[in-house]
Amino acid sequence: MAINTISSSFPRLFLVSTLVFLCSLKGLGFAFEGRETIEKNLLHHTHTVQVSSLLPSTTCTPSTKDPHRNGSSLKVVHKHGPCSQLNQDKTKTPTDAEILEQDQLRAEFIQYSRRSKRLGGEFLRRKSGSKASTNIPANLGGSFGTNNYIVTVGLGTPKRSLTLVFDTGSDLTWTQCQPCAGSCYDQNDAIFDPSYSSTYTNITCSSPLCSQLISGPGNQPTCSSSTCVYGVLYGDNSFSLGFFGKEKLTLTAKDVFKDFLFGCGQYNKGLFGATAGLLGLGRDKLSLVEQTANRYGRIFSYCLPPTSSSTGHLTFGKGSGKASNTIKFTPFSKSYSKSSFYGLDLLGISVAGDKLAIPPSVFSTGLIIDSGTILTYLPPTAYNALRTAFRQAMKNYTMGEAFSILDTCYDFSNRNTISIPKIVFSFRGGVDVEMDKFGVFLVVRSVSQVCLAFTGNKNANDTAIFGNTQQRGLEVVYDVGGSRIGFVPGGC
Ligand SMILES: *[C@@H]1O[C@H](CO)[C@@H](O)[C@H](O)[C@H]1NC(C)=O
Ligand SMILES: *[C@@H]1O[C@H](CO)[C@@H](O)[C@H](O)[C@H]1NC(C)=O
Ligand SMILES: *[C@@H]1O[C@H](CO)[C@@H](O)[C@H](O)[C@H]1NC(C)=O
Ligand SMILES: *[C@@H]1O[C@H](CO)[C@@H](O)[C@H](O)[C@H]1NC(C)=O
Repeated sequence: MAINTISSSFPRLFLVSTLVFLCSLKGLGFAFEGRETIEKNLLHHTHTVQVSSLLPSTTCTPSTKDPHRNGSSLKVVHKHGPCSQLNQDKTKTPTDAEILEQDQLRAEFIQYSRRSKRLGGEFLRRKSGSKASTNIPANLGGSFGTNNYIVTVGLGTPKRSLTLVFDTGSDLTWTQCQPCAGSCYDQNDAIFDPSYSSTYTNITCSSPLCSQLISGPGNQPTCSSSTCVYGVLYGDNSFSLGFFGKEKLTLTAKDVFKDFLFGCGQYNKGLFGATAGLLGLGRDKLSLVEQTANRYGRIFSYCLPPTSSSTGHLTFGKGSGKASNTIKFTPFSKSYSKSSFYGLDLLGISVAGDKLAIPPSVFSTGLIIDSGTILTYLPPTAYNALRTAFRQAMKNYTMGEAFSILDTCYDFSNRNTISIPKIVFSFRGGVDVEMDKFGVFLVVRSVSQVCLAFTGNKNANDTAIFGNTQQRGLEVVYDVGGSRIGFVPGGC
């Protein structure tokens, strides 16, 4: 038996070792060259990131690009970072899990509006009673809350400074107004009081301007002693209700707009942090983009700061995108032409230089780019392919506990630096957009739970959403008149 085994295995053993020998001889030069190529590829296709840089910093490091910008620029900061002037009220901060629930509601709301073209109120009624909507915290955003980017504008005469979140996913600009007949949440700036402004006017119910509210916020305006009353509901159950008014808006010293239409909010609730309201940058008539079209030609751009301790910008007009002559634009998607949202055609995704094998039909849902949604939501098939490739490229790292809908988390507590595979979105028109090194992960608690900030949609036919984490550090140029969007890396 023993002899038999040895003798019968001998030829096989010999064969195998010879093969190995031959292969290693033949492969020597090849293997050497191969390793170099792989290393070179890894260099090209990964970002090296200092683990400590992923954590929020306590000091503000403003972007050095801001002062050199020509155009009408507002500084953009993260609502809860050290560059924000807002008071941080920790006691009212919802947990990260609650914030992700809000984010999913916002995403579902966008997908619902897109699919049914029905009103927001109906969505919220349909949702009410569900766990997600009853557990919604009454106030304040959190460490990575939705709509987390803010700018400061001037309103009224004399001018009052107001800090507003900006939102490409909605149209009407509003601020909380005295006397807060319903109720106002706590805000950092003094609440705007129209009775102290010499330039405020109520819009009457009979004015044709009042009926514009139907297409914008999507809710039937009502009347209060002949004053037009607006109501806006957001996907996360936040809302603002009040008088539709006209007022002087000051963006910069040289950019002043008389007769800017806005909501003077008497009853406001939701996740607006300590901000005074919202700046609407959607595609409808009532958005700031349309109301300032004569001046800025429907062009604006922004760069969301890569970290919460740096600054970005929101710039209006031709000065936007200093590289406008050289950047490549991708056209707006035809399937969103009647929507307030900015839709694009995503054609493919690459991870670490490799194009994922995703059938093009998977992307026929289209994609909406939104400044207010935190995560990027992909069709399930696309997300699964992304996750597999990402995990493969990150296989040397210890995985951490999953968190809420984030299922690809890492524990980097024993690392100083990490290599993250580059993620590239390919849009129609040959436009490849590489995510910034800070545009891939969300840090949940500490470096022991750092999660890939993408998720899969529930249904294959839901629209994809390009969220604000993935837009960090990119200059996103909206040429609304030209129906196209361009991207420039390193835009802040
Ligand atoms: C800014 O742009 C305006 C109009 O395009 C131009 O007249 C002006 O010279 C520019 N300023 C600077 C500092 O580049
Ligand atoms: C605007 O209309 C409301 C409701 O009719 C009224 O209470 C308020 O005083 C009006 N404000 C101004 C400045 O006219
Ligand atoms: C994983 O670790 C091994 C061994 O340390 C190394 O040779 C390899 O290059 C690493 N792979 C990646 C993708 O970083
Ligand atoms: C989308 O898919 C879901 C589940 O697969 C289905 O219930 C729904 O009817 C579909 N909606 C549309 C508009 O196709």
